[in-house]
Amino acid sequence: MIATPPDFDADFFRSALGRFATGVTIITTETDDHRPVGLTISSFNSVSLEPPIVLWSLSKAASSLRHFLRTQRYVIHVLAAPQLHLAKRFAYGAQAERFSGLALTRAPGGTLMLDDPDCAAWFECHNLIQHEAGDHLVFIGQVERCHRNFSQPLVYHAGDFDLTPSTEPLSND
Ligand SMILES: Cc1cc2nc3c(=O)[nH]c(=O)nc-3n(C[C@H](O)[C@H](O)[C@H](O)COP(=O)(O)O)c2cc1C
Repeated sequence: MIATPPDFDADFFRSALGRFATGVTIITTETDDHRPVGLTISSFNSVSLEPPIVLWSLSKAASSLRHFLRTQRYVIHVLAAPQLHLAKRFAYGAQAERFSGLALTRAPGGTLMLDDPDCAAWFECHNLIQHEAGDHLVFIGQVERCHRNFSQPLVYHAGDFDLTPSTEPLSND
């Protein structure tokens, strides 16, 4: 079946999508020569419980794309509210600076990850499937190990790290 062309523009679509509140994650892996790579991602979601499968989508314009296309595994860190500064650093900071001063460790399967006890949860994933969809690639990961805390999550809504119900459009909304 052929889809009908949209009757809205990209800005309106972005604004409508912004009505869906999400959590915020940082996803990490490493380059072939073992440099850490990571970025802020809010498109994370659950797919399957048995077997445990999750997904997220990555822009084709992302500098980290080539590394995530090659890596066997990555770690998805669900951020807690006090980790707002990390969400901003891993979205807006230069890739080479993002890990500066941060403690790193390896997940049980060997994947490079943040050594930060504040994370609300983390999932070490096998890089199962990559599916092209428009200007993004959907990454489907099989969760091999995970951990969770009971901290207040960091929330992203209407283009901001906030849950305030906005009646007026925000400047970036
Ligand atoms: C809250 C938030 C959520 C984001 N979610 C995504 C996402 O799901 N997919 C994506 O490709 N970029 C997302 N981004 C943008 C990337 O974090 C940003 O473009 C980053 O600089 C890409 O890094 P890279 O080019 O080094 O790979 C998000 C940014 C923010 C602030």
